[in-house]
Amino acid sequence: MAIKFGRPIELRDAPKRQTALASPPLDLTIRPRRNRKAEWARRLVRENVLTTDDLIWPLFVVNGHNVRTPVASMPGVDRLSVDQAVRDAERAAKLDIPCIALFPYTEPSLRDEQGSEALNPDNLVCQSVRAIKKEFPDIGVLCDVALDPFTSHGHDGLIEDGRILNDETVAVLVKQALVQAEAGCDIIAPSDMMDGRVGAIREALDAEGFGDVQIMAYAAKYASAFYGPFRDAIGSAKTLTGDKRTYQMDSANSDEALREVELDIAEGADMVMVKPGMPYLDIVRRVKDTFAMPTFVYQVSGEYAMIAGAARNGWIDGERAMMESLVGFKRAGADGILTYFAPQAAEKLRERE
Ligand code: PBG
Repeated sequence: MAIKFGRPIELRDAPKRQTALASPPLDLTIRPRRNRKAEWARRLVRENVLTTDDLIWPLFVVNGHNVRTPVASMPGVDRLSVDQAVRDAERAAKLDIPCIALFPYTEPSLRDEQGSEALNPDNLVCQSVRAIKKEFPDIGVLCDVALDPFTSHGHDGLIEDGRILNDETVAVLVKQALVQAEAGCDIIAPSDMMDGRVGAIREALDAEGFGDVQIMAYAAKYASAFYGPFRDAIGSAKTLTGDKRTYQMDSANSDEALREVELDIAEGADMVMVKPGMPYLDIVRRVKDTFAMPTFVYQVSGEYAMIAGAARNGWIDGERAMMESLVGFKRAGADGILTYFAPQAAEKLRERE
């Protein structure tokens, strides 16, 4: 049927007006607005839905007992002592959030050039995993694999003469992953962007009897300004020397993301991730369309800070901006979202039930 945009005729019920219109009334047989006329109609034709099942909630853990320290650049987000992380895991379980992710704030005295604390089976992450799994065995726990929370220089890998070493770093990451798996971690998520780390970790997990531990690869991870508040949260912002552009991707690239994702899948990744989120929705779509893999997206700290900060200032409706950003990820093809908004979004979704 031909769409008759533009042919001027009078609409049947249109009031006769003497005022000059910018353009005359149109004969529109097809009117997309009909499907938007009421909430029930909009619900009926809605293409994408966000559910609580789509959410992974990242938590920051810190030393101490009964501690909740606000992260200044992430309004509403706290660093939690292990006992409080368990309380948030309980909140997640009650809200039916399927999975939480753990990131440590490591005491400066425990940071060194090699990131040795990453391999301590009793480090904050491992303590948290054990405590959470003991009380809430049915919630998924994801652990980030990278050295930046543990190194004095804030880089994700080992350094020699200012260069980030690849293969030597991978050897350490493999050990870090095993320590986390031993503690009871369900999903190992390498975020370091070293070449070959997914394959090496998979092989070691399988060899050590952790065949069921999944790998979610930070497959297309860009060198981004949007990680700033996260680095505040884990205490690496001040110590980071230089930038991460020799290992994280150049934000101008898209085909390269497909090659990175393809490699991680070939090396055994069970799930792949694109990070950050909102500036990279095109990458999410290409990855999902190309590989049809479980595809995740990380709405990173800077994205959270922009929405939460603007909302706190009364500049935007924070709740609506949150939900709009999250469904945008679904529309782009994501199967799930790592987001600091997870509990608020889950509460909002519950209201609708
Ligand atoms: C560590 C890591 C980072 C994030 C997740 N894992 C920071 C970085 O690569 O510098 C960022 C998460 C966020 O900004 O919310 N490799």
